[in-house]
Amino acid sequence: MTQIHIYLFGIGNVGKTFIQQILESSNFFKQHHHLDLRIVGLANSRSVLTVKDGIGTDWKEVFGKESSPREADSFYRFSKNTEVLKIAVDATASQELSRFYPEIVQHGFSIVTANKIANTLSQDFYDRLRSLLKEQHLNFEYETNVGAGLPIVETVRSLYNSGEQIFVINGVFSGSLGYIFNRFSEEDVSFSQVVTDALDLGFTEPDPREDLSGNDVARKLLVLAREAGLKLEFEDISIESLVTPTLKSASLHQFLTDLSQLDSDFQDRKDALKEDEVLRHLGQLDVINKQLKVSLQVVKKSSPAGQLQGSDGFFEIYSESYAQHPLVIKGAGAGREVTARGLVSDIVKICKSQPVYSLELLEKDF
Ligand SMILES: NC(=O)c1ccc[n+]([C@@H]2O[C@H](COP(=O)([O-])OP(=O)(O)OC[C@H]3O[C@@H](n4cnc5c(N)ncnc54)[C@H](OP(=O)(O)O)[C@@H]3O)[C@@H](O)[C@H]2O)c1
Repeated sequence: MTQIHIYLFGIGNVGKTFIQQILESSNFFKQHHHLDLRIVGLANSRSVLTVKDGIGTDWKEVFGKESSPREADSFYRFSKNTEVLKIAVDATASQELSRFYPEIVQHGFSIVTANKIANTLSQDFYDRLRSLLKEQHLNFEYETNVGAGLPIVETVRSLYNSGEQIFVINGVFSGSLGYIFNRFSEEDVSFSQVVTDALDLGFTEPDPREDLSGNDVARKLLVLAREAGLKLEFEDISIESLVTPTLKSASLHQFLTDLSQLDSDFQDRKDALKEDEVLRHLGQLDVINKQLKVSLQVVKKSSPAGQLQGSDGFFEIYSESYAQHPLVIKGAGAGREVTARGLVSDIVKICKSQPVYSLELLEKDF
C-alpha cells in the first residue's frame, strides 16, 4: 500500500467537500488503487492543524480545539518525512499562497490546485515554477483551473503534446457567469438577485467581482493559452468588465450591499434582446493570432452557447483534426462537488505517475 500525505490549504466550499470525498472514498482508493490517502495537514488563513495518522470525520471539532496559529513554515516543520509522497492541495483563492509555490516545491511537495493565480502570474514565474518542478521530479496538476471538473486542461495539453495545431478555443468558461446569464436571460428576476443566489450556492468566486470583472474567465483563457504553447501575460487579454469602477473599488461588504446599482443597466440590455436571443458571457482564444477576449455577447437561443442550462460550461476546440466540427466539452462548469472531485482525480493521477506506485503494484500482483 502506498501512503500519501495530503496537506490541504483552504477549508471553504471546495476544501470541505474535498475532505468529505477523500474520507468517504478511502476504502475505494485502498482496494482499487492500492493507495492510502491521508490528510495530515489542514489550514485556513489563520490556523493550522497537523495529524500524524490523518484526520477523521471529527476533523472540524479537532481543528477547532487543536489547531494553532498559522505561520509561513507551519507545514514544513511537520513534513520532514521523505519516505512518503507529499501533496499540497490549494483550495484557496490566495495570491499570497500562490507566490509561495516555489518554496512548497523546494520542500518536496507536489502540488494540486484549484487556485488559478499561480498559473496566471507573470510568464517568468510560470516558467521558473516548471523548471523547479522538473529539477525536483515533482508534479503540478490543475485540471480544476478551467471548467471545474471537466477535462479541459488535459485535453488541450494532450492535443498540444501530440503536435496538433490548435486554432481557436471558444466557450462559456465560467459556470458562475453561465448560471447568472442563463437565469437572468430567461427569468423575470433582477440581476443582483441572481448574483446573490450564485454566491449562496458557492458558484461564484469568494468575491463575485472576480467573476463579474471578467478576470476569472481571463485567467482561465490564459491557463489554456499557456497550455497551448503561447507565452503571454494577463495584461495581453482584452476584458469587458461588468462592474462599475466605484463598485470595483468598494469593500466586499459594500459591494454586496450596493449590488442593485447594476440592475437597471442589465435590465436595459435584457429589454433590447430579440425574441430568439439571450445574453452569454464568452471567452475566445485565438491561438494563431495570440488574441484573448472576454465579453458579454448576444447570441441566438438556438446556438450551442444559447442552449446551455444552469451552471453548465461549454468549450469548443478547433484544431487541425477538428477543423470543420469542433471538439466539444460540455457539463457542470462550477460547484463544490465537481471541483473537489477534480482535485481528487488530480491526486490519483500524480500518485499513479510515481515510480513507487508501480513498485507497490508489482509487489501486490506477483
Ligand atoms: N466553487 C467552485 O465552484 C470552484 C470551481 C473551480 C475552482 N474553484 C476555486 O477553488 C478555490 C476555493 O474556492 P472556494 O469556493 O472553496 O472558496 P472559499 O469557500 O472562500 O474558501 C477559501 C478557503 O481558503 C482559506 N484561505 C484563504 N487564504 C488562505 C491562505 N493564505 N492559506 C490557507 N488558507 C487560506 C480560507 O480561510 P478563511 O476562512 O480563514 O479565510 C477558506 O478556508 C478558489 O481558487 C476558486 O477559484 C472553485
